[in-house]
Amino acid sequence: MSESHTFNIGLCGFGTVGQGVWKHLTSHRAELEARLGATLNLARASVRDLKKKRAVKVPARVLTDDPLSIANDPSIHIVCELMGGTTLARQVTLAALRRGAVVVSANKALICEHGPEIIAAAQKHGGHFFFEASVAGGIPIIKALREGLVANRFPRIYGILNGTCNYILTQMEDQDAPYAAVLAEAKRLGYAEADESLDVDGWDTAHKASVLAWLAHGVWVKTDQMIVEGISRITPADFKNAATLGFGIKLLAIISRDFAKNELSVRVHPTLLPEGNVVANVSGVFNAISVTGDVVGTTFYSGRGAGQDATASAVISDIADAASLLTHGKGGHLLGEVTTPNANGCRLAPPESIRSRYYLRLTVRDEPGVLARVASVMAKLKVSIASVIQSPADEPGAASLVLTTHESNERAMSATLKQLRALSAVLDDPLLLRIGDFE
Ligand code: NAP
Ligand code: HSE
Repeated sequence: MSESHTFNIGLCGFGTVGQGVWKHLTSHRAELEARLGATLNLARASVRDLKKKRAVKVPARVLTDDPLSIANDPSIHIVCELMGGTTLARQVTLAALRRGAVVVSANKALICEHGPEIIAAAQKHGGHFFFEASVAGGIPIIKALREGLVANRFPRIYGILNGTCNYILTQMEDQDAPYAAVLAEAKRLGYAEADESLDVDGWDTAHKASVLAWLAHGVWVKTDQMIVEGISRITPADFKNAATLGFGIKLLAIISRDFAKNELSVRVHPTLLPEGNVVANVSGVFNAISVTGDVVGTTFYSGRGAGQDATASAVISDIADAASLLTHGKGGHLLGEVTTPNANGCRLAPPESIRSRYYLRLTVRDEPGVLARVASVMAKLKVSIASVIQSPADEPGAASLVLTTHESNERAMSATLKQLRALSAVLDDPLLLRIGDFE
């Protein structure tokens, strides 16, 4: 504990999020300090390129291009890792934890990949690790799961965890805007990751789903243990087909636990949601999470899931928790810190346990018998067709077939896709979307 209750803060990373933290902590410092009874001193910040022009101006003496010098600086009480990536970020995080400092992180990729090592380092060396900004930007979902909903087990958590993808899908649907232009705008607005494939291919959502699954179930699920599919194959025609069927399309993370079988599934994919579903109606960069607890029932959270201000809000809340922890010691209010539910032998659900209805879009030769051949493949695999929409495809002599199924499972649908790809009448890779029949 610092005698004077002055806490020095180092920002490793001074890009979109880092500058937001500096700006808003500076503008709200007086109120925060009054509430915390401590002085918050933004002491140091690191960047890769010291010459780059930045919107938020700081004295040159504050800046360094060596983030490890901040992590290892004994005068820095709270190290915020806001760089991204998993190599240097891991070194910075571990170095700070090993000297007993508090680390505040927005880095879901790092937590997903190295969470067990980071938590172990915090526990072993008396450091502390806070990561509210890592999932759903400004929405305090981590506090909700750890503290507000601690009385519950969680049969289902699902939602929109990537602002960039939700922004792109919304613009494509509402404005009929082309994918590339909308992605460029999302980057300009500071929503997208430096490597945009993390967003559009579903990996960022998967990293966040991994963090939520650990918080809710005490199990670390890696991305290669999940179904992870992104949004790049969705077309305007899919939105029109989905609307005809009464659905919208969202990229969802879905974390389901079957407590009777003790099976957990974590998956990320574009999902058809009924038009009246509350998550289906969350647009733009907003995130939305539906959490069903066995005691509380279903609760719902929504807010800005990406961008400078929303993310800074979450980082500053962790800095405030860190200051409170350093001032008062580990009090009861920090219930959730480094405690998670016991996994109780829970195992990952096999593909046949993951069940839903499905939407299948095929481009086929428009000739007699093709629909029958497709139906025959599905019948042999016991996949029951619920509806068919046929329309002309872009290519001459081809048709677009959209089939929905009754409830089936991942094993049967994976076999169905394999056999359909092998039919000569199927002209391109079928698109499979899941239908989310959720509350
Ligand atoms: P960003 O704008 O790219 O900023 C990254 C910062 O880290 C920059 O200051 C950069 O220096 C510095 N940096 C990167 N690699 C470095 C290296 N190898 N050595 C030294 N400095 C390095 O990224 P961001 O959007 O702020 O995101 C930061 C973290 O927050 C990521 O983990 C991201 O996933 C997470 N996050 C972002 C958002 C969001 O909406 N942007 C929301 C939630 C969480 P330069 O400025 O000199 O290039
Ligand atoms: N690229 C991420 C998103 C940033 O769009 O949601 C927030 O984690």
